[in-house]
Amino acid sequence: MTLSTAAKRPGEPGYHEILRNLSEGSVTKHFDPYVDIDWDSPEFAVYSDDPRWIMPEEDPLGRHPWYKAQPVDKQIAMGMWRQAGIAKVGLDFEQLLIRGLMQYLVSVPNGDPEFRYVTHEAAEECNHTMMFQEMINRIGYRDVIGMGSIDRKLTMAIWPAVKYFPELFFTMILGGEEPIDHLQKSLLRGGVDMHPMVHRVMQIHVAEEARHISFAHEYLRKNVPSMNPITKTVLSVAFPIAMRVMLDMIATPPKQFVDKFGIPDEVMREAYWGSPESQATKRDVFADVRALVEGTGMMNPLAKLTWRLLGIDGPASRYRSEPARRAA
Ligand SMILES: [Fe+2]
Ligand SMILES: [Fe+2]
Repeated sequence: MTLSTAAKRPGEPGYHEILRNLSEGSVTKHFDPYVDIDWDSPEFAVYSDDPRWIMPEEDPLGRHPWYKAQPVDKQIAMGMWRQAGIAKVGLDFEQLLIRGLMQYLVSVPNGDPEFRYVTHEAAEECNHTMMFQEMINRIGYRDVIGMGSIDRKLTMAIWPAVKYFPELFFTMILGGEEPIDHLQKSLLRGGVDMHPMVHRVMQIHVAEEARHISFAHEYLRKNVPSMNPITKTVLSVAFPIAMRVMLDMIATPPKQFVDKFGIPDEVMREAYWGSPESQATKRDVFADVRALVEGTGMMNPLAKLTWRLLGIDGPASRYRSEPARRAA
C-alpha cells in the first residue's frame, strides 16, 4: 500500500484529510454506553403492556394487516422480541466487523492514518455491542437470537475478503451498516413514538454510524477506480449480491421469531419482500450505495442487470441520506 494522497477532485479534501477529520470526529463526538445512557432512569423502565413496543409502520411486518389484526398484548410481545432481535443481529454483525477490522489493521503500515481511524471505529463498535446487549437484557427475552446458523456460515466469506479482497470486505461492511442505519433513520425521522431507551440507543448509533458509513464510502471511492478491470467487474457484480444477502441477514426476522409467534409463511413472504410496499422499502435502503456504485464506475451493464434481478435497482440519492426518491 502506498501512502500517496488520493487524487483530489476540485474543492474536495483528499482521502487522508477525510480520515483525519473522521478521527477528530471520533474524539469530539463520541458516546459511552455507561455514561451517555441513563439506563436506570424511570422512563427507561420496561413494561410488557407498553404500547410503544408495537412494531411501527416503517417495519415491513409492522404494517402488515396480519400483524395489525393480532391482539395488542401479542403485538407488544412481538415488538419487544423484534426490537431485541434487531439489536442482537446488529451486535453479531458488529462483532464480526471488529474482528475483520483488527485483521485488516495487521497490514496497515506505519504512518498511515487509516490505523487511527479504523481503530476509533472498532472502539465505537465495541461500545455499540455493549449498548445493544444492555438493551436486549433489559427488554428481557432471554431466547432472542440475532443471525441464524446459515447466515453465520455465510459470514465466513468475510475472512478471505479482509486479506485478499479488502474492497469486498468494505462492501460487506456497507451491506451491514446501510440497512440498519436506513431503518433507524427512517424511525427517527418519522417521529415514531418508540420506547425512550430504544430511542436513545438509536440516536447514539445513528450519530456514530454516520462516520463509519462515510469511511466505507471513502475507502471504496479511493480504491475502486484504480482496481484492475477484471477484479473491478467481479466487485461490481458481487456488490449488489452482498447488499441483497446482507439485507436479509439484517432485516428479516429469524426462524425462531416466526415459529414463536406463529407467523404464517405467506405473511413472511409478503412482508419480506413480496408486497409492492416492501419492494419499495428494499430498493430505498440502497439509494446511497447506488450513488457510490455509479460514482466509482461499477454500474456496468452486467452490474445493472444484477441490481435489477435482485430487485434493489432504482434512483441513486443525490446526497448522502437523502429521503427516498422513487421512480415514477
Ligand atoms: Fe455500530
Ligand atoms: Fe459501524
